[in-house]
Amino acid sequence: MHIHKFEQFWIKLSFVLIAFFIATVVYGFVAMDLKVVGDHATVDPQNLSETPFGNPGVREVTRNGETEYEVYVQTIQFAFNPGTAQPIEVPVDTRVTFYITSPDVLHGFDVAGTNLNTMSIPGQVAKFTTIFPEVREYGIVCNEYCGPAHHVMEGKIKVVPKSEFDKSNLVE
Ligand code: CUA
Repeated sequence: MHIHKFEQFWIKLSFVLIAFFIATVVYGFVAMDLKVVGDHATVDPQNLSETPFGNPGVREVTRNGETEYEVYVQTIQFAFNPGTAQPIEVPVDTRVTFYITSPDVLHGFDVAGTNLNTMSIPGQVAKFTTIFPEVREYGIVCNEYCGPAHHVMEGKIKVVPKSEFDKSNLVE
């Protein structure tokens, strides 16, 4: 069977591309240690009250002798709790770990102007750790369509100087 040389070229190229894409996935898992969400990060969206998400907000924790913060956020049609009614306040230059989940539908949690961006999936807990390097405010937007008021679902993170961080807003 005769295959035209251009057709041969494109067939070969498609195999090269497939090999390249598989290689990028393997590289991500092996060299960059990327992970898919596992069983350890699941939660019953009907029973968030029995988890730390039942009392969402900022918690102070001590890890390796350092003071750090954990922020539990529920994404709800059409607000971040906390984040929308009151900003999420955290101190500058401090490790902050976010835990995010949804009791209703798929939402996004995108800290505008940063690379902090995750989906919030009912039944799963998204987690990321960051250190905010400067005192400023960040907007949070929902970037997954979640219903008729999706476009107004937004919140705020307020990064404050350590000396001005008000611990009376922490949750237990
Ligand atoms: Cu929540 Cu879109």
